[in-house]
Formats: sequence, C-alpha cells, structure tokens
Amino acid sequence: MALVGCGSGLPAASISNDQLSERVDTNDDWIRSRTGIGSRRVAGADESITSLGLKAAQAALDHAGWQASDVDLVLLATSSPDDLFGSAPRIQGALGAIHAVAFDLTAACSGFLFALVTAGQYIRSGTVRRALVIGADQLSRWVDWDDRRTCVLFGDGAAALAVEACPAADDGLVGFRLRSDGRRGDSLTLNQIEQRTPLVQGLDAQVGGFTPIRMNGQEVFKFAVREVPAVLRELLEGTGTDAADLDWLLLHQANQRILDAVADRFGIPHERVLSNLVHYGNTSAATIPLMLDEAVRDGRVQPGHLLGCSGFGAGLSWGAALLRWRGPAA
Ligand code: COA
Repeated sequence: MALVGCGSGLPAASISNDQLSERVDTNDDWIRSRTGIGSRRVAGADESITSLGLKAAQAALDHAGWQASDVDLVLLATSSPDDLFGSAPRIQGALGAIHAVAFDLTAACSGFLFALVTAGQYIRSGTVRRALVIGADQLSRWVDWDDRRTCVLFGDGAAALAVEACPAADDGLVGFRLRSDGRRGDSLTLNQIEQRTPLVQGLDAQVGGFTPIRMNGQEVFKFAVREVPAVLRELLEGTGTDAADLDWLLLHQANQRILDAVADRFGIPHERVLSNLVHYGNTSAATIPLMLDEAVRDGRVQPGHLLGCSGFGAGLSWGAALLRWRGPAA
C-alpha cells in the first residue's frame, strides 16, 4: 500500500483558551502548561462529520490526482458520526465515489491507525486498489462543557489519506502492531445513557442517547506513557528499524507532555517530533492525518520519509505503525 495523497477539513471557528475560560473555570496558563494546547476548532451549525470528512476526502483525492470513480473503499474512522448507522456512505455519495464500498470504523483516538491498517489489508489481499481513509471527530458534541478536566482537551476536525496498491517492495505500511484492553476501558468513556421506557409487561426498552465523555486523566496519561513506547519499541525491533532511522515521530496529538516523554524514551530530538496540538487540541481520530497533511504541505515530510506513528485512546486501544510517505505521482 502506497500513501499517495492527503487532505484536511477543519471547522472555521477557533476557540482560544482565554475564550474557553469565559465558559468554564480554567485559564490559558493551566491548559498550556499541562497539555500544550492553545486553541481548538469547534464545528459550527453548518459543519458536521459528513461535511468536514467530505472536505478532507476531496482534498486527499485531488492531492493524489484521482477521480472519485477510481476509489474502491471509503473508510471513516470516527466515534462521533452524524448518523449511528454510518456517515461514511454519506461522504462516499457526496464525493461521487460510485464504485466504492463505504463504512465507519470506531476505535476512538486509535481509529485512524486501525482504519489505515484495515485498508492496507484490503489492498494487500487484492480486493481493493484505491482507498480513502478518513479520520474525523466532532467531540464538541459529547464533551461536558462544564467539566474543565475534559472539555479543554478536545477539538473538532477531519483529515484523510489516499492509499493505493503498489509492489510489495514499495509498501508504505512498513509494519504495524495494534492492541486493545477492554478491562481498562472505564478510564475513558462515552457511554449510553441509563434510561429506559416502559414497553410491555415485564420489559422496559433502553432509551437511546449518550452521556458526555468521562475520563480519569491520570490513568489515561500513565497508560499512554507506558504503552506507546512499549508498542513502538516492539514494532521497531520487529521490523529491524532503529529509532534514529525515523525521519519523524508522529503520535496521536493528545498532550505535548506525552509526545515529549515518548520522544525522550527513544532519544529522538524534539525537532523530529511532529506537533500541532497547540492549534487544534485532541481531534481524536483526525490527529494523525491532520498532522501528516500539514507536514506534507509545508514540505517537512518528503517522499521516502519514514514516520513512526502511534495512536492511543479509549477502549482502551492503542497501536503503532511505521509509514513511508510516497506522495502523488510526479
Ligand atoms: N483548568 C484549571 N484547573 C484544572 C483544569 C483546568 N482545565 N483541569 C483540572 N484542573 C485542576 C484540578 O481540579 C486539580 O485541582 P485540585 O488539585 O485543586 O483538585 C488540579 O488541576 C490537578 O488536576 P489533575 O487532574 O491531577 O491534573 P493533571 O496534572 O493530571 O492534568 C490532564 C490533567 C487531563 C491534563 C492530564 O491528566 C492528561 O493529559 N491526561 C491524559 C488525557 C488525555 O490525553 N486524554 C485523551 C487520550 S486519547
């Protein structure tokens, strides 16, 4: 699978820490020093997972130089779809990707990596030639704006990668490891509401709806700084790659302190750690492609560069992938 195009779709409105502190009891200094976040985008009334995901997918398609009808698979990693039956088909339809099969995949902040690896399996098996993998989340729908421990962390956004079949020797998915541990799932949840409605004698039916995001921040922090280096190390060893061979470290953008801690564990200089969470916060499934798109477009990531990636989050879920960027055909 070759990584040949990328694109982003971001909400127009940006909310600074100072603006947020007018809504909830927090301040710029606390948020910046604990997380590195300075502002976040929040979707307006005319924006949604479908519209942002479509913008990202179209940009990736254009970057790759494909026609929409060339696409065989549209995979949308999201935990906050517009429609629980799936938002990927809406994007596929609006894009005009008439030959593509489209579906959603949920693995929280690890979702993009899980979806990219899934697309890679379809491509390697020969079932699919060209795929668009989108990561999109609108967690502003699901945060409790009165809970300062969580609402300051998240932002909305979408980004996408265009990937296609290639000779095995050129495969840009150099290696991957994916992990789940539901036993620790309670530390970060977006659970259904506990409400039932009388149906028939002896049976109440569940009422649909979700409670806001609940998180044990310290548990999640410890999980990330323990598991991300472990899975990355396993991947590097398994593929015979030295950390010094990585052109870039591209981690899920949750917290600058997590990024720094992981980089330090591998002796990777901070200049080679991609970070844009100061502008966007944690956009969940979108962080990795959003960061990659920015770094490709400003010329930091060049064709042939090797990226050590890791996603982690609710589930609990986490994983790592070694990706080689190819870019569009010249
Ligand atoms: N503004 C001001 N004060 C805040 C605050 C905010 N936004 N959020 C929490 N505080 C206060 C707390 O109330 C607490 O005050 P107290 O000591 O008077 O009780 C104090 O700050 C310390 O809170 P604590 O939760 O211990 O802070 P922390 O150092 O663990 O940092 C996180 C909190 C959330 C930044 C940190 O735990 C973290 O980043 N965890 C990982 C979260 C994450 O990345 N989740 C997504 C994974 S995909």
